[in-house]
Amino acid sequence: MNLDVIVSLCKRRGFIFQSSEIYGGIASCWDYGPLGVELKNNVKRAWWRDNVYLRPDMVGLDAAILMHPNVWKASGHLDHFTDPMVDCKACRRRFRADKLDETPWIHYCPATKGNKFEIPAGEPCKHCGARRTLCPACGKGELTPPRQFNLMFKTFMGPVEEDAAVTYLRPETAQGIFVNFDNVLQSMRLKLPFGIAQIGKSFRNEITPGNFIFRTHEFEQMEIEYFVNPNDVIDGRPADEVWHERWIEERFAWYQRYGIRREHLRLREHEKDELAHYAKRTADVEYKFPMGWSELEGIANRTDFDLRQHGKASGKSLTYFDEERKTHVLPYVIEPSAGADRSVLAFLVDAYREEEVRGEKRVLLRLHADLAPLKIAVLPLLKKRDEIVATAREIQRRLAQRWVSVYDDTAAIGRLYRRQDEVGTPYCVTVDVQTVGDAEKREAGDRKVTIRERDSMEQVRVPITELETVFRELLADGVAWSAIVARYPAAKS
Ligand code: GAP
Repeated sequence: MNLDVIVSLCKRRGFIFQSSEIYGGIASCWDYGPLGVELKNNVKRAWWRDNVYLRPDMVGLDAAILMHPNVWKASGHLDHFTDPMVDCKACRRRFRADKLDETPWIHYCPATKGNKFEIPAGEPCKHCGARRTLCPACGKGELTPPRQFNLMFKTFMGPVEEDAAVTYLRPETAQGIFVNFDNVLQSMRLKLPFGIAQIGKSFRNEITPGNFIFRTHEFEQMEIEYFVNPNDVIDGRPADEVWHERWIEERFAWYQRYGIRREHLRLREHEKDELAHYAKRTADVEYKFPMGWSELEGIANRTDFDLRQHGKASGKSLTYFDEERKTHVLPYVIEPSAGADRSVLAFLVDAYREEEVRGEKRVLLRLHADLAPLKIAVLPLLKKRDEIVATAREIQRRLAQRWVSVYDDTAAIGRLYRRQDEVGTPYCVTVDVQTVGDAEKREAGDRKVTIRERDSMEQVRVPITELETVFRELLADGVAWSAIVARYPAAKS
């Protein structure tokens, strides 16, 4: 599938817009529209529920984005959070030196009188056999030697823009957790192993951002720092290694729990030479994005690196007192670090389907109901009948107390269904003549409505008084749609 299909759907249906679009846009910054903010909040809510509320060994945190500049010295970000960068001397474009051969390149081939070709990433020219040496984008300019470029955004705190006032927008949320380790430990009286979870914005001055919301300058992370006693042994193995494996399994399963197909996920172990400066072992959960397999989440064993560094730099003890061994220890840290925006992209891509229904194309997002931006759409079959409209509005008002739901009467019913399919709404409720009856003909309505399920397009007839029970079963209690179909009569489609 082409990523442009998702970008276009996102704009058309109010999920994601280019930032500052009326001014021509700003590169690699995106705004979440009415449906996008719901989807992203649902992803974050699912993550928080599963990792904080449903785990007795986890607590939450929301640290400030701006931190003391010494944090970044101690963490190693000032010295190591860099990418090697080269510039094209002709077109002035900037590239990551280590990724130059991962994109197609432009070549003016001498063997074909200087004809211009786009050559696949990493391959030589078929005609002259040359490999890329010049700028891959313009094909003409020489590249500067690589220089290290720090990815942190610098800013100034206070009224004077001087060196003493320099601080940084955090490039990861993790450091906010490490510097609060002792505050959380003492205030919550925790025992190892335990974790601190945080969701928040991070900022990176990426040299090669792109692929929609995959790599941006400003993004949200969902990070856990899980602290383990390094002296503990589980089944004869160091506890940090066992916990690392448990987290890899848990996080790999999490994406599938919310609908991502197993065959679109894989684990990739980091080679020794690509490990971050703090990591003993890292495994990435990768997703098969339209542009290829790429990282969705990294799960690292950061050892005691961060607590040790901050302890040394701040002069404050960041140890844990091991009651059993009567000794102070520096906990090891397992860090499952996911991107909220990247997860949104993976969930959208995986949910996207095109089907043919009665000779017409149907586009739908098969989003997990917990993630779907809208849970229920209430639709009147005829908008000219006042009783139908009033009943539909009243039903929507009642359902909205519990679930994000909308009322829509701006098109014929077939089109209304298609619109809801396209944004992933799992259920539509339709109010029709049979529901309200016909006062002129002295016919009473049956006070029943049609519920239509998105994926199967099956429809059942349910009394209005039972709607809340049915939706509680479907949306909160995990009851399958087939159980509802078995209980209620089918409705005509
Ligand atoms: N604290 C560890 C850490 O930040 P990372 O692998 O650099 O590790 C973790 O980032 C996750 O954050 C990534 O797997 C990705 O989902 C997300 N992420 C990182 N940089 C990003 C960017 N520029 N745009 C969007 N998401 C990003």
